[in-house]
Amino acid sequence: MAKGRITKVAGPLVVADGMRDANMYDVVRVGEERLIGEIIEMHEDRASVQVYEETSGLGTGTEVVSTGAPLSVELGPGLITTIYDGIQRPLENIRAMIGNNLKRGIEVPSLDREKKWHFVPSVAAGDTVVPGDVVGTVQETEVVNHKIMVPPNFKGGTVKSIAEGDYTVEEIVAVLTTADGAEEQVGLMQKWPVRVGRPYKNKINPDMPLITGQRVVDAMFPIAKGGVAAIPGPFGSGKTVTQHQLAKWAEAEIVVYIGCGERGNEMTDVLNEFPELVDPHTGKSLMERTVLIANTSDMPVAAREASVYTGITIAEYFRDMGYSVALMADSTSRWAEALREMSGRLEEMPGEEGYPAYLGSRIAQFYERAGRVICLGSDDREGALSAIGAVSPPGGDISEPVSQATLRIVKVYWGLDAALAYERHFPAINWLTSYSLYADQLGGWFNSNVAEDWMDLRGRMMTILTEEASLNEIVQMVGMDALSDPDRLKMEAARSIREDFLHQDAFDDVDTYSSSKKMHHMMTMVLAYYDKALDALQKGADIKDLIDIPVRETIGRFKYIEEANIDENYNKIMETLDAEIGAALAKEEEY
Ligand SMILES: Nc1ncnc2c1ncn2[C@@H]1O[C@H](COP(=O)(O)OP(=O)(O)OP(=O)(O)O)[C@@H](O)[C@H]1O
Ligand SMILES: [Mg+2]
Repeated sequence: MAKGRITKVAGPLVVADGMRDANMYDVVRVGEERLIGEIIEMHEDRASVQVYEETSGLGTGTEVVSTGAPLSVELGPGLITTIYDGIQRPLENIRAMIGNNLKRGIEVPSLDREKKWHFVPSVAAGDTVVPGDVVGTVQETEVVNHKIMVPPNFKGGTVKSIAEGDYTVEEIVAVLTTADGAEEQVGLMQKWPVRVGRPYKNKINPDMPLITGQRVVDAMFPIAKGGVAAIPGPFGSGKTVTQHQLAKWAEAEIVVYIGCGERGNEMTDVLNEFPELVDPHTGKSLMERTVLIANTSDMPVAAREASVYTGITIAEYFRDMGYSVALMADSTSRWAEALREMSGRLEEMPGEEGYPAYLGSRIAQFYERAGRVICLGSDDREGALSAIGAVSPPGGDISEPVSQATLRIVKVYWGLDAALAYERHFPAINWLTSYSLYADQLGGWFNSNVAEDWMDLRGRMMTILTEEASLNEIVQMVGMDALSDPDRLKMEAARSIREDFLHQDAFDDVDTYSSSKKMHHMMTMVLAYYDKALDALQKGADIKDLIDIPVRETIGRFKYIEEANIDENYNKIMETLDAEIGAALAKEEEY
């Protein structure tokens, strides 16, 4: 094992000589406190190490020992509901052991070594299994059935022995005999290096939506299961709230939430809120399907760099079981800043704005680990990993390198807008600049699973909103009076789309989530008003009467109608709409 001595300490970076036998990306232990670090650059016998803990007190001559293994995560029962730091140390357990101050160099296993899990085999002695095959299951939480799989780096073979029972994560649940007569032991836990994507058979077309219950997302800029999306936005525009909303409501069996370099209180919000919230899909607490990775702004910067890899590796592991996994990273800009800081300390040639030249490829590598896949194993099960990253461009200007590199790779762009947030139009996703490259591909699903005119309604709403933007320019120059009556009506329709449909209050018990059916009702009503009013207008009705009809207010309040009552209310509103438009027209005909 390579053993060297520190020659230089520069913040989270230490340089050690005498490390010739170590490898790039080896995990090392530094000093008596055995601080955890990782080799990120090698020059002959000199290793540059990023240390995941406070380095104060370290000096030249301090010993650095390579562990000979890459930075890895432990994968097995016990992940769900746990809160980890950036290198998968359980935060609650550490806190319980030593109080609130995270002591340096502390060694706490990622998965509990004492806890017994009940394992139920799904194969029998004599069966043949290949890597990725499920040999049995553990009911990890009420909602997560944890599949115990033959690890990807095994050969597989014939099951020699397997037995139901209670096991710790270190115990062996099955023994396999490989073709060459060797034995492989399958336990409840596997390890995987975080910087290497877990293998799968092949990627498949992302043509199913990840339903989120957020209207502007599902109806306007949908994300596919296995898709990649970015939420760039200036300070306070709603990045975190949007990420929380997706973590809460997205149709995913597993959620991995990475709090990366953001304020500690945002993470505390998650910790306080999620256990209380009921998952609409299972009726249980949201924590029962959630893994949290927290590397807040007050924690060491290097561990922030690792946190996204820790998170995505855990997410891939659940994808491999055949689940739909949603991963949120808030904020990827803080991660990129950690990368920049380490690059600066390494004295690498800086690229744009001091970020390393490899910024773009690192961002791409991260998002490329998402996808809808056929998993390893003989049953061809399908898994999906959707990745959604918040981006915090300084001053909200997305021409900066992290936003640009992100936009080149993601397929959905939910652009948050300071002006909308200022007007308290939430979610402040700008409908004119945002896009989803999945929209057309997902259209077929919405048309056949929700309503066949879904994409038509969506297209019409988009058109009205775009036309509103050009009409607005005219209004600003010459005033509302210059508009023709049909254009005024169009402005009214656009306002209704924005206020009655797109605006959605994350903090209202009912409005926080809309089913696709409810969304369809809303789109239909808003556009039905426009069509019917336009028709009446052409038949001579007065524009003021049409704008003032009372049912419009009822349409505006429809978002607060509980799911159970939406059909009844919808039918009533459509009847009233006809009656009131009819009355406006009749009034005209009287004269
Ligand atoms: N969907 C929403 N519904 C209601 N209010 C919202 C919504 N989104 C954002 N807000 C309001 O905006 C505030 C700021 O949102 P948030 O903290 O998510 O911004 P941020 O972009 O993450 O900010 P920062 O740059 O500080 O991380 C929230 O506290 C909330 O009051
Ligand atoms: Mg935030």
